[in-house]
Amino acid sequence: MPEPAISNQGPPIPVSRGLWSFPRNPNTMGRMATTIALVTGANKGIGFEIARGLAAKGAHVLVGARDADRGRAAAATITSEGGSAEFVELDVTRPDTAAALAEDVDRRFGRLDILVNNAGVFADDGDTTDIRLSTMEHVFAVNVFGVVTVTNALAPLLRAADAARIVNVSSELGSATHMSDPTSLYTAMQPGAYGASKAALNLLTVSYAKQFQDTPIRVNAISPGYCATDMNGHVGPRSAVDGAGIAVELALAGADAPQGTFRTDDPLAAGTVLPW
Ligand SMILES: NC(=O)c1ccc[n+]([C@@H]2O[C@H](COP(=O)([O-])OP(=O)(O)OC[C@H]3O[C@@H](n4cnc5c(N)ncnc54)[C@H](OP(=O)(O)O)[C@@H]3O)[C@@H](O)[C@H]2O)c1
Repeated sequence: MPEPAISNQGPPIPVSRGLWSFPRNPNTMGRMATTIALVTGANKGIGFEIARGLAAKGAHVLVGARDADRGRAAAATITSEGGSAEFVELDVTRPDTAAALAEDVDRRFGRLDILVNNAGVFADDGDTTDIRLSTMEHVFAVNVFGVVTVTNALAPLLRAADAARIVNVSSELGSATHMSDPTSLYTAMQPGAYGASKAALNLLTVSYAKQFQDTPIRVNAISPGYCATDMNGHVGPRSAVDGAGIAVELALAGADAPQGTFRTDDPLAAGTVLPW
């Protein structure tokens, strides 16, 4: 029997694949009209499609970007399609931008319903013995320290929401089980600095999930699969829309949302629940 997409406790949330379909008027979408979602690194790639997908479901999306022009352009695309979105300045390596954003969201909305930690960078120095410390520092600064900076700055606002969702965009390259499995898709690769950063992100996901276990907040990690984006010179077999689907699904999951899991909907993966 195929594994259910989210959990065996209820039906998965239906999410459009391919082109997102926008509601005619997001302000008539009931509760979703007031759902406030922040996506980091949302100006392009998978993050943009996550933002677009959440807006298509009626959320008001804060399009986090470190560059104002790129962020505004992305938000404008979503609003031109009928979604509700706005650019917010957020460089995940700059705690001052996270603190200012938290203050702004608190003042204007008093809560945050959805946080998608998507911003990420990839670097490959080749063999593990050739990894430069500067590469480790750069990759960890965004993929790991950035997630802690943003999540912790926004934690009081996530607690203030009815049942906040946190989705961390990880990678199968961060699965120690997969990367040491000789039959895995990526077995020829040394996970290197990038894989180590996503493994750290995975364990942080477990840590946040444990902290929030007795609250309605649900925290999960996802792997979008190998998607054609700027990160890899557009060579992945999946599209950014494909990669965004599972993140949107978990961000919108209801009371039966899983806690502290690592999920994918990549048909090339060995299953929908990935091993750490
Ligand atoms: N593509 C894949 O095959 C794949 C597979 C597994 C996991 N992932 C993960 O998916 C996520 C999105 O990747 P992508 O493929 O969409 O890559 P992408 O097209 O290169 O997008 C990365 C995004 O992160 C932003 N970013 C980088 N550093 C940042 C910082 N310091 N502060 C704020 N934003 C920052 C980028 O902003 P700028 O435009 O300003 O640089 C951009 O918006 C990443 O976490 C990545 O590790 C991707």
